[in-house]
Amino acid sequence: MSEKTKDVVETSEAEIAVHWQEEAYFHASPGFIGQANLTDESIFERFALKNFPDYYTEFAELLTWYKYWDEVLDSSDAPCFKWFKGGLINASYNCIDRHLKANKNKTAIHFVSELEDEAIQHITYQELYVRVNEFAALLRDTAKLKRGDRVTIHMPMSAELPITMLACSRLGVIHSVVFGGFSASACADRIVDSQSRVLITMDAYYRGGKLLNHKAVDEEACQIAAEGGQVVDTLLVWQRYPGKNSSDTPAVEGRDIIVNDELKKYYGVRVEPEKMLSEDPLFLMYTSGTTGKPKGCQHGTGGYLAYVTAMSKYIQDIHPEDVYWCMADIGWITGHSFIVYGPLALCASTVIYEGVPTYPDAGRCWRIAQALDVNIFHTAPTAIRALRKVGPDEPAKYTYNFKHMTTVGEPIEPEVWKWYQKEVGKEKAVIVDTWWQTETGGFLCSTVPGLQPMKPGSAGPGVPGIHPVIFDEDGNELPAGSGKAGNICIQNPWPGMFQTIWGDRPRFVKNYFERYCKNLDSKDWRDWPYLTGDAAVQAPDGYFRILGRIDDVINVSGHRLGTKEIESAALTVNEVAEAAVVPVAHEVKGKEPDLYVALKPGFKASDEIVKKIDEAITYQIGKIAKCRKIWIVPDMPKTRSGKIMRRVLGAISNHGDVGNVMTLANPEVVEEIKKMVG
Ligand code: PRX
Repeated sequence: MSEKTKDVVETSEAEIAVHWQEEAYFHASPGFIGQANLTDESIFERFALKNFPDYYTEFAELLTWYKYWDEVLDSSDAPCFKWFKGGLINASYNCIDRHLKANKNKTAIHFVSELEDEAIQHITYQELYVRVNEFAALLRDTAKLKRGDRVTIHMPMSAELPITMLACSRLGVIHSVVFGGFSASACADRIVDSQSRVLITMDAYYRGGKLLNHKAVDEEACQIAAEGGQVVDTLLVWQRYPGKNSSDTPAVEGRDIIVNDELKKYYGVRVEPEKMLSEDPLFLMYTSGTTGKPKGCQHGTGGYLAYVTAMSKYIQDIHPEDVYWCMADIGWITGHSFIVYGPLALCASTVIYEGVPTYPDAGRCWRIAQALDVNIFHTAPTAIRALRKVGPDEPAKYTYNFKHMTTVGEPIEPEVWKWYQKEVGKEKAVIVDTWWQTETGGFLCSTVPGLQPMKPGSAGPGVPGIHPVIFDEDGNELPAGSGKAGNICIQNPWPGMFQTIWGDRPRFVKNYFERYCKNLDSKDWRDWPYLTGDAAVQAPDGYFRILGRIDDVINVSGHRLGTKEIESAALTVNEVAEAAVVPVAHEVKGKEPDLYVALKPGFKASDEIVKKIDEAITYQIGKIAKCRKIWIVPDMPKTRSGKIMRRVLGAISNHGDVGNVMTLANPEVVEEIKKMVG
């Protein structure tokens, strides 16, 4: 594959400087294209803006409806859009019941424990049906939950987590899953905000080889929630190892119910799925915004399910015979859309892995892929970098056959993309870089793998039906393909988009629409471009490159630099495994970048490596991106989900307060870095 490298520097009137290295395209193999779900180019014409919103009926038709919709899009309460209005549907039915006739004995879920010697659970669609029905009966009759109630679920990765979610959706109960690694206080905030009187938890789970007592966290969450005004009257506790658990905390009489015992009452019980209105909420997913209070993104039933099913089929290229593994945690939107709802709606086999990707060693992921014959693999740049750092040559030792791989969650540096393509995908798998958000339910930009070539570092054009636009600070639309940075917005609503912020419509309007809305009283969708909060550039070929959150862009002497640009440049240096840039206040320039890097195993920090990185940045971007300091650190401070804590590095660089770091995966490294930076 030839590689063309071009340095492009564009300066807009607003003195926005964007520097990038344009990468060569990579093409899918004829073998992949031959089997791909979407190879008909006419999709782009059919999904042109002039045909909006009717083209979305193609997505809705992937589902089974009790009653078809009366109206594709109802904008009468814009920007709270209603999709497939009047339609009746149930998500649990679409993910389970409708597959039983032809596929009841097919594996729906492979659950892989972190303990390598524990047998993998293979749960068929029939077994999933039975377990979801029995648990739905428990929710209805023991926990007294009914349609429209909210329930908070604070569970680790387990087969019981999707069972719990699907039992809720069977009843029309709105689930609010809180990432298992969140603290008691974070969980309590969400219980209070969603007014959940029922909390569902699990007693324990494995992380890095240790069995953690999770019930204890939720014991505390109940107390904090009560202080905040929301009493949890029912705590449902799934048991990881019933009867032999070392981490039981005493049950509170009258509140706690051990699910494994209680379920015996519901043996063989079946629960009719509720016929939900398409616009009824399916779930809440909290995400952090510009203020401290997390926002409950409310996703609807019919629109959301249609959208994630279509994205799973056309972008993830999932077929019913595929074994699909998304390494995200179900506690985040990626897990909801692309471990649970999308793949199951398509009758695929979805893999759920409990633990750390590199536990007990760097080969774990590839052994799982080999054992289960995974052929679609979905992960995040963070994980790719971690896997590259600890075991660059590991994938070659295993025989698995990926036809398709995804990257999601943050911009991926071309160097890392190429390692993923070559070493993990063995130059056979296509890669889709999917750009989207908790709020958006499913993908916004990506390539259609059977139709569009890949370009490392660029997510791609809008997916069929999504029409992005870039605005400058003054609200002017930048010409398509201008190569100038600005705020990327979506011109049209789409079915996967969240419906509102739970209980806070004004905030929904203010945060996501007010800035570029043409008329706040308008009922016309054209007046409501959705503000994503990301900066992006569009190349002349129509591909978007996401620069990061607007607040991640560093303004140096009036020039904007994506922190990812610098990190990407640093990663071109062979010794560098991970890189993170943080802004440091500078009295003349406004901000300067500070660069933190961790080296691959076997390399030691030296002035020579610092010089190499410095030169690589100047080479890739220009002197404008010169870092104030390049710190070679023993490891990056990371959250338990593996995200680099740039906030902590920023505080160290700015001699500020690092805050509470005890929840990090490696708090000890913070002190070491502080000493180094001084
Ligand atoms: O900045 C973008 C970045 O992650 C943000 C959304 O984060 P979250 O709501 O947690 O959802 C993560 C799963 C989609 C976006 O505003 N982001 C997400 N995907 C990409 C990305 N940045 C660049 N490239 C991506 N593929």
